[in-house]
Amino acid sequence: MALKELSARPSAQEVMRDAPVIPVIVLQDRAHAVPLARALLAGGIRMLEITLRTPVALACIEAIAKEVPEAVVGVGTVRSAADAQAAAMAGARFVVSPGYTRSVGKACHDLGIALLPGVATGSEIMMAQEDGYTDLKFFPALQSGGTGLLKAWHGPFNDVKFCPTGGITTANAQEFLALPNVACVGGSWLTPADALAAGDWARVTRLAAEAAGLKRG
Ligand code: 3PG
Repeated sequence: MALKELSARPSAQEVMRDAPVIPVIVLQDRAHAVPLARALLAGGIRMLEITLRTPVALACIEAIAKEVPEAVVGVGTVRSAADAQAAAMAGARFVVSPGYTRSVGKACHDLGIALLPGVATGSEIMMAQEDGYTDLKFFPALQSGGTGLLKAWHGPFNDVKFCPTGGITTANAQEFLALPNVACVGGSWLTPADALAAGDWARVTRLAAEAAGLKRG
């Protein structure tokens, strides 16, 4: 199926509704960035969250933005306005944060870049909503209450969509995706560290294709 054309800066809705899974990626080596992005794309996954957890993360974002324009490179583990600004400068097209602060929300708003803010409580959902954010990352999903908490939130927060992340695997992804308030899930299982170290891009493509084939509820 041909992928829908996206603007340079997709909305949070577009980011969360593109594929059933957003890969959470930790890159240790800049040389892995482009082949990894191509491997995920070949499996049908183009929204890529590169986490700011390694010294090469910004260089990896820059490389993917320049060399794999069909992918939509985003940044994860954004914990400050400065993180968001640096990643946007490097070419990130969306931002994911493990929690929510007003300064990160304002920075992304000012940059005109989509933010999926991390929440784990009702108060955090309300704060993000107050600032206009209604497409949220639920993190850490499994550890914070998993599908039971999502079902409970669907009552008071039925206008919010979530991307549960943290503890999601092929074994439980479908259970999350079946819920009406889950737009997609996030996870690191598509990009195992040993596959990256070995340059086993075919394995990454297989994992991506399997993830792309998951059904939403
Ligand atoms: C994250 O790092 O954002 C999530 O913890 C990814 O969680 P996972 O490794 O359990 O998929």
